[in-house]
Amino acid sequence: TNAVITIPVVVHVLYNTSAQNISDAQIQSQLDVLNQDYSKTNSDYTKAPAAFAGLVANVGIQFVLAKQTPTGAATTGIERKQTTKTSWGTDDQMKKASTGGLDAWNSSKYLNLWVCNLSGGVLGYAQFPGGPAATDGVVILTTAFGKGGSAVAPFNLGRTGTHEVGHWLNLNHIWGDDGTSCSGTDNVSDTPNQADENYGTPSYPQASCSNTSDMFMNYMDYVDDVAMYMFSTGQSSRMNALFASGGARVGL
Ligand code: ARG
Ligand code: ZN
Ligand code: CA
Repeated sequence: TNAVITIPVVVHVLYNTSAQNISDAQIQSQLDVLNQDYSKTNSDYTKAPAAFAGLVANVGIQFVLAKQTPTGAATTGIERKQTTKTSWGTDDQMKKASTGGLDAWNSSKYLNLWVCNLSGGVLGYAQFPGGPAATDGVVILTTAFGKGGSAVAPFNLGRTGTHEVGHWLNLNHIWGDDGTSCSGTDNVSDTPNQADENYGTPSYPQASCSNTSDMFMNYMDYVDDVAMYMFSTGQSSRMNALFASGGARVGL
C-alpha cells in the first residue's frame, strides 16, 4: 500500500453574477467530497453490487486548499475575479489573465481548479498529465461544483470534481471512448469492457460487450452524482503511478 499523497489546491473562481461568486463553504464542500471519494470514506460506496464490492479502492490521495502562493505568501487557496464574460468555452481562456481569466499557479506544485460558467451544457473538463503547464488543471461548471450554494441537481454532490480530477490523474472514461465498438479500452484491467457511457441512475446489472454488467457506478462513467460512488483498484494503481519515481505528477 502507498503512503497518502496530499495535493495543494488553488481554486480560481470567475464570476459574472454575484450568485456565481460561490462561498468559501461551497468550495470546501468540493474539497471534502474529493477527500472522501479518493479515500473510500464516501458514505455511498457500500451500495456497490457484490460483483464489484471487492474492487472499490481507497486511492490514498487527499486535497487541501493551498496555504502558500507560488512566491511563499500566505493564502486561502482561493482567488476570485469578476468578469464581464457571461460564459466560457472549452478553449482555456479562463486559465489566462490575458484572455480574461486567472493564471494557473505552478502546476508541478498545485492542482489548479477553475470554477466558471461553461457554455454548452459542459459540466467540466480536464487536462491529462503531460500537457502544457499553463493550462494544466481542471475546469468545473459553477452549477456542478461542490454542494449547496450554486450547485444544481443531479450534479450537486461534487462528483463532477471527482470525475475531472480522475482525468487529471490520467484516468480515461470507463467505456474507452470508442463509440460502442467494444474495441476501445480505459487502460485499466479490472473495469469490465463497456460499450458506451451510462446516464441517470441505472439499476444493476447493465450488460454490454459480453460483460456481466458495466461498472456504471464508477466515477469515470457519466451517471448522475448520486449514482457514482467508486474507483476500482486498477484505476487507483494507474493514478498512484503518476507519483512514483519518473511519474508525471511526482513534484506534487
Ligand atoms: N461530462 C463530463 C466529462 O466528460 C463530466 C461528467 C461528470 N458526471 C457527473 N455525474 N458529475 O468530463
Ligand atoms: Zn470525462
Ligand atoms: Ca477496462
